[in-house]
Amino acid sequence: MITVEQRQDPQATEQILRALPSWFGIEDAIRSYAEDAATKISYLAVDAGRTVGVALLEPHFPEPVELWLIAVHPDYRGQGVGTKLVAEIEQDLRQQAVSFLQVKTVGESFEHAGYAGTRAFYRSCGFQPLEEMTGLGWDGPTVIMVKSLHTV
Ligand SMILES: CC(C)(COP(=O)(O)OP(=O)(O)OC[C@H]1O[C@@H](n2cnc3c(N)ncnc32)[C@H](O)[C@@H]1OP(=O)(O)O)[C@@H](O)C(=O)NCCC(=O)NCCS
Repeated sequence: MITVEQRQDPQATEQILRALPSWFGIEDAIRSYAEDAATKISYLAVDAGRTVGVALLEPHFPEPVELWLIAVHPDYRGQGVGTKLVAEIEQDLRQQAVSFLQVKTVGESFEHAGYAGTRAFYRSCGFQPLEEMTGLGWDGPTVIMVKSLHTV
């Protein structure tokens, strides 16, 4: 059974990213995320002691929080692990009165089957695209997606 725990595991985070070269193929980016995994708020999906998924959070302001990184090991992709990570995070953030969750990913004007799947995942979690822009950390398009955490 997969459980979600709020704790850090930079080594496993780096291993998961290295297993996903279509998304995380740049050495500097992997190292930077591994450092983030030791400093940012971290949620892990764990299966029998093995870290199989990770999500990092960056609270830029008290109300909106950014889903800074999410990745699930290829052995476990497509089995609901990402959804479970996001659901647990949302539950905790709602208790902290956080209003919005945002995430940035590659925009659809850059053709890439892998990132099309990533955007489909975010949409399935309830995120909606807010704006696509260029110049955010790389030369191509970045889409900002948001999800309201207000319960009405
Ligand atoms: C994106 C990611 C975190 C999703 O986690 P996951 O555990 O594989 O996703 P889930 O099994 O919870 O998927 C839930 C739903 O999202 C959608 N979805 C997920 N992956 C998809 C894909 N590749 N293509 C289309 N839809 C997808 C589906 O609607 C799916 O529901 P279904 O399985 O009932 O059809 C994971 O696949 C991953 O690590 N991808 C590579 C790295 C990445 O994209 N990270 C984000 C970079 S910005």
